[in-house]
Amino acid sequence: MRNPVTDCLLNHRSIRKFKPDPIEPGKIDAILHAAIRTATAGNLQAYALVVVDDPKRLKEMKLDSAPAALFALVDQYRLKRWFEVSGTPFYNDQAANVLISFWDATIALQNAVVAAESLGLGTLYLGTVLSENVQEVLGAPQYTFPAGLVLLGYADETPALRPRLPLEAVVHRNRYHVPTDEEIRGFYREEDARYEALPEETKAMLRKKGVTNRAQHRTIGHYTEELIRRESEAILANLKRAGFRFTP
Ligand SMILES: Cc1cc2nc3c(=O)[nH]c(=O)nc-3n(C[C@H](O)[C@H](O)[C@H](O)COP(=O)(O)O)c2cc1C
Repeated sequence: MRNPVTDCLLNHRSIRKFKPDPIEPGKIDAILHAAIRTATAGNLQAYALVVVDDPKRLKEMKLDSAPAALFALVDQYRLKRWFEVSGTPFYNDQAANVLISFWDATIALQNAVVAAESLGLGTLYLGTVLSENVQEVLGAPQYTFPAGLVLLGYADETPALRPRLPLEAVVHRNRYHVPTDEEIRGFYREEDARYEALPEETKAMLRKKGVTNRAQHRTIGHYTEELIRRESEAILANLKRAGFRFTP
């Protein structure tokens, strides 16, 4: 079963090469309206979207490979201000608030991505934003935290659809089915074969780093323990700087 919406979703691919052409203001507007129409916890919209399309600002942020960037932030600050002007206490500095706002912010961002792709634009998520200091980079106040970042622009490449795991690797029916080792090997058969298909010289280079299969390639060969520790430290520092508390 399919329709134009599912066709658009099934056609998604990340774009890493954009044309310099600016995005028409009407298109950005349509994308933002679609973004904020998404469901939002308590209808509080505890998130902020920051559109960056000033070429100078994009360059400063090293995001100038695209004509526009869209940040999604957890934003409990705006609520705090509303509570203050209304004489209501603020206690939305806790884990529940961070997580629910993170959810809000990222579904709004994904709505923006779908709208952008449906309007003929290319998109790229950048996970590195989680460790960015948005207080410094965007002048964002306390009680804000980066939840997502997407580059937007007209694609200057047409990459092939990237592979996905088989549905049964990801989808569970009625309860979580804990897979056997054999099932795990089956889920990852094609993924594992991607390592085998690498050129011999690449594999020889990787072997020197102790990488002999695809899973090792994705861990010690790329997302290293050191990298993840550094990102995590920066993320925790971000939460702390923003004023969110770690204990209830
Ligand atoms: C949360 C998230 C973070 C991502 N971060 C990056 C990134 O920092 N750099 C990058 O080049 N791609 C990034 N991507 C894009 C993924 O690499 C891409 O979605 C994945 O390889 C699948 O390719 P596809 O989107 O073309 O299907 C990110 C995607 C998501 C959803």
